[in-house]
Amino acid sequence: MRNIILLTVSCILFTGTWLTAQPFSLPKLNYSYDALEPFIDAETMEIHYSKHHQAYLNNLNKAVTDAKLTDWTLEQLMLNAERRGPAIRNNAGGHYNHSLFWAIMSPTAQKTPSGKLAEEINSTFNSLDDLKKMMNSQAATRFGSGWVWLYVNTDKKLAVCSSPNQDNPIMDVMKENRGIPILGIDVWEHAYYLKYQNKRGDYLNAIWNVIDWNLVNQNYEAALKDPFLLVIEKNTWQALKDFHMVMAQTYHPMEDGDFAPIRNRSGEMVEKAKALSTAAIPNSFRTTPIKNAINELVSGAESLDKLVKKKAKNDKIEASLTKLHDTFHKIQGLCSEVDH
Ligand SMILES: [Fe+2]
Repeated sequence: MRNIILLTVSCILFTGTWLTAQPFSLPKLNYSYDALEPFIDAETMEIHYSKHHQAYLNNLNKAVTDAKLTDWTLEQLMLNAERRGPAIRNNAGGHYNHSLFWAIMSPTAQKTPSGKLAEEINSTFNSLDDLKKMMNSQAATRFGSGWVWLYVNTDKKLAVCSSPNQDNPIMDVMKENRGIPILGIDVWEHAYYLKYQNKRGDYLNAIWNVIDWNLVNQNYEAALKDPFLLVIEKNTWQALKDFHMVMAQTYHPMEDGDFAPIRNRSGEMVEKAKALSTAAIPNSFRTTPIKNAINELVSGAESLDKLVKKKAKNDKIEASLTKLHDTFHKIQGLCSEVDH
């Protein structure tokens, strides 16, 4: 009887540990470790997937748990990589980048693109060979570790870039070259050293044999339709993010009865609103209602600053800041209505 109870308890405990779900998990490989031989050897595949990718994943799950961000999506984490710090940046990137890498390779790869993707490659890069040369060149000259990307930019055009470490075009840390990656090549030594040693160029030439353009094409079609592209475009609007930061750090304390932040920072609010009105607006958001709302934000911030300088009472400051906050949310609302 005692054994049965112990067994039951240990089963519950064991099940309990399994039920404590980690936010992110390793994607399944669609082929065996040796399937991409001779271009990528089985030992490299096994270590790369089961050790390196697994380590990024474990570290990511720990980082989001420590930062209490377990309900954030991988995309949200990457859009805020700069503010969230190196543990999130490196491991969210490591997980996303490797997941994409496994998913675009196949032992029965279609060696050339077709349809709209083929047309776009030809019109943007001249030919597939020229695209490969450009990517190989950027990969070969990437100092240290990193990736080379073919991605759909925020204007829905194809573009190529490379990134250091585990950064990618989704991340806010990439000041230019933002968009959704559709093909990424890992140029960390762990991706090729066992077979190719220091000959990164040989690895880069070989890998095109296992990159499946049918799968890249699926990524391309999905990226063109993905509303996330508009989210990335909005994320490039630094002046809006700068204003948002001051608003959040003054409005929320005021809601809790603390007026010191807005009384100290009303001048800075005017500066950020003016900077927003003169900064370039990303293409999709360059509409008359948004421009008008930004002008309204400048005059609202100036009125609030005058009240603060006159040492107006809290109820006057509260009314003015609440109105400014509403104007800011009007801009946010207009942005989300934009039909790309
Ligand atoms: Fe890697």
